[in-house]
Amino acid sequence: MGKIILTGDRPTGKLHVGHYVGSLRRRVELQNSGEYEKIFIMIADAQALTDNADNPEKVRQNVIEVALDYLACGLDPAKSTLLIQSQIPQLCELSFYYMNLVTVSRLQRNPTVKAEIQMRNFEASIPVGFFCYPISQAADITAFKATTVPVGEDQMPMIEQTKEIVHKFNSVYGETLVDPKILLPEQEACLRLPGIDGKAKMSKSLGNCIYLSEEPEDIKKKVMSMYTDPDHIRVQDPGKIEGNTVFTYLDAFSCPEHFERYLPEYANLDELKDHYRRGGLGDVKVKRFLNEVLQETLEPIRNRRKEFQKDIPYVYDVLKEGSRQAREVAEQTLQEVRDAMKINYFDDLDLIREQAEKYQA
Ligand code: TRP
Repeated sequence: MGKIILTGDRPTGKLHVGHYVGSLRRRVELQNSGEYEKIFIMIADAQALTDNADNPEKVRQNVIEVALDYLACGLDPAKSTLLIQSQIPQLCELSFYYMNLVTVSRLQRNPTVKAEIQMRNFEASIPVGFFCYPISQAADITAFKATTVPVGEDQMPMIEQTKEIVHKFNSVYGETLVDPKILLPEQEACLRLPGIDGKAKMSKSLGNCIYLSEEPEDIKKKVMSMYTDPDHIRVQDPGKIEGNTVFTYLDAFSCPEHFERYLPEYANLDELKDHYRRGGLGDVKVKRFLNEVLQETLEPIRNRRKEFQKDIPYVYDVLKEGSRQAREVAEQTLQEVRDAMKINYFDDLDLIREQAEKYQA
């Protein structure tokens, strides 16, 4: 059997450069590698509603924003199936059966859920749906028989939870579900790109993101305001690379060709870092270079996005057709699950005959 990818995002905001280096760039490469039999990219609106139940309009608006960002980055509907989670009701039924295979205490131990509960001040009143979203994510992954789930490291506990459900299901009901593997980003800098303020994670609420749809002047403004080494005050001072956001971004985005084009005095990033460490290299020069690199990277994405923005009905058609195909695949898996769980009463002729014979004698 061929390899199958499933991954996705919650539609709670436009996608930013953290999403790009953490996942989108890789997805497009995987899509174009020809190594995968099928690729499913899910806009996880139902999961977004687990902690935005009172704000459905936000989720609704961002479904199209995320779809535009996907297409802008080069996800191609002819090669990847783009779908909206809520349009696949089979996922709910799978989740309901998987709930029997997971304990409350196991969910409470999930580090990602724990962190999110803290972040949202849910402590005393956790919505049940939110609490169970790792189970619903296991349904997302298994419904499409995904072998490979490309996600950031923060999703590791979700994949572990999924694997546990798969093992449990298969051992109780017989070999049915596919055991997925996580595929982490390749570069360390990409595991988690910090916000422009140097804070751990880019997030809309912190206002520290650079969006994929950002206009050139705004990209420049944000780059020039980036957090660097606070002790690097005069140009001649030695500077630190670790925790220096500008260098973290260069790790994630720059390549030797960028140096040739915009900063030919240096052959590569290592030379630039060495100079910064020694002293004598100012932040502004490094920021100007990063600005060039980001402008070059984001321009084609922004331009493609603008083209798709001119034909919004087409984008909804793509999602509708992708969701239709996804339903077919999920329905097939659900049939197999029902068979394995012996809740296929009307399709099982043996069952009907057996029961009839029992009462004949
Ligand atoms: N939890 C993921 C996120 O927050 C989104 C998601 C939902 C997902 N279902 C998935 C990711 C299935 C990978 C596989 O970004």
